[in-house]
Amino acid sequence: MAASTKQVCQVSNQMSPTRRPARIPTEQETHGRRGRSITDDDANAINRVEELSYDLKVHEVMTASLKIASPEMPLSQVLEILRVNRISGVPVVKDNELIGILSLEDIVHAMQKNELSAPVSAYMTRKLVTVASYDSIVSAIQKFSDSRLGRLPVVDENYKLVGMITKGDITRGILIALQKDYKEEEVRRYRASHLFEDIISDRTTLVLRYNIKAQDFTHGGNASSHIKRALLRLGADPQIARRCGIAVYEAEINLIIHTTHGGILKLEVESHRITMSTIDDGPGIPDIEQVLQAGYSTATEQVREMGFGAGMGLVNIKRCVDKMDIESTVGKGTKLTMRIHVPTENFTGRKEE
Ligand SMILES: Nc1ncnc2c1ncn2[C@@H]1O[C@H](COP(=O)(O)OP(=O)(O)O)[C@@H](O)[C@H]1O
Ligand SMILES: [Mg+2]
Repeated sequence: MAASTKQVCQVSNQMSPTRRPARIPTEQETHGRRGRSITDDDANAINRVEELSYDLKVHEVMTASLKIASPEMPLSQVLEILRVNRISGVPVVKDNELIGILSLEDIVHAMQKNELSAPVSAYMTRKLVTVASYDSIVSAIQKFSDSRLGRLPVVDENYKLVGMITKGDITRGILIALQKDYKEEEVRRYRASHLFEDIISDRTTLVLRYNIKAQDFTHGGNASSHIKRALLRLGADPQIARRCGIAVYEAEINLIIHTTHGGILKLEVESHRITMSTIDDGPGIPDIEQVLQAGYSTATEQVREMGFGAGMGLVNIKRCVDKMDIESTVGKGTKLTMRIHVPTENFTGRKEE
């Protein structure tokens, strides 16, 4: 991992030239996930909520239906607007341009002087902190914490007022995005468990392939248990997955025990059948009839001591599959093909037992 380089940078913000951030923003706040430099430490520390605060834009969470005041409006009228709409402030607009903001606090000041009939322009705040609609919500969060304001006017690239944003809007926006994440995850999981249905409808073949090493007893059975688990996860009938699991286990162990260099174990899933096969490059089988007899084994004493070589592997395979085929040439190699037929109704997305 590259060494982290800390870079500190001031947020440039043309929209609110009157305000200066109260503290230097952090690396993450400055650059964002899609920004340029973000250190490795920062990247590691980002959680989904933080990530969302860069991904979500202000216009996605703001309130676009606006209650506005004009500068000539008497404060009493604005007070009524605030009361009816249960809000604590309104932007002040003149000739389609944002010129100030009037909050409940400003009205309280006027009330103290008994001036509720005064125009909005007399009490509004002209020093504006705005946020741009195309900014990430992280910049709005930053402005909320710097200014301690409860609501910020949102402007577009022409400084035209397009909405208002509150901390509540941000929280709601993040919750909605998380909910969407969760739904997408659910859909993904559902799709995985129904993959067999897709295989059927698309007439495609799913292929899993494993390289098996000779004498690698420590990993013996890994590929076959992976295959069985995969079949179950994909929604195969548990009985069929079990039969496949036993057959490929025996075939996998035979590659480990009896071959010169190991070989390849392959699983092919089609709509109507599952084909499992092993292929190796030696030593080959001199008498196929003979090796198919129960108890026949050429395994060494050492291998038997390890619990293998009972001479039942090929017999078990034959019991588990619908069709077994061995092609072998001494000195060249062996190909074992095992096939299980699948009634279509067995692939209807049943889950692991
Ligand atoms: N891939 C292979 N290459 C060469 N010989 C094999 C292969 N697979 C099986 N055999 C032969 O078939 C015999 C019977 O295999 P199996 O029924 O699995 O019993 P076991 O593996 O316990 O010996 C083996 O002992 C071995 O002689
Ligand atoms: Mg065997």
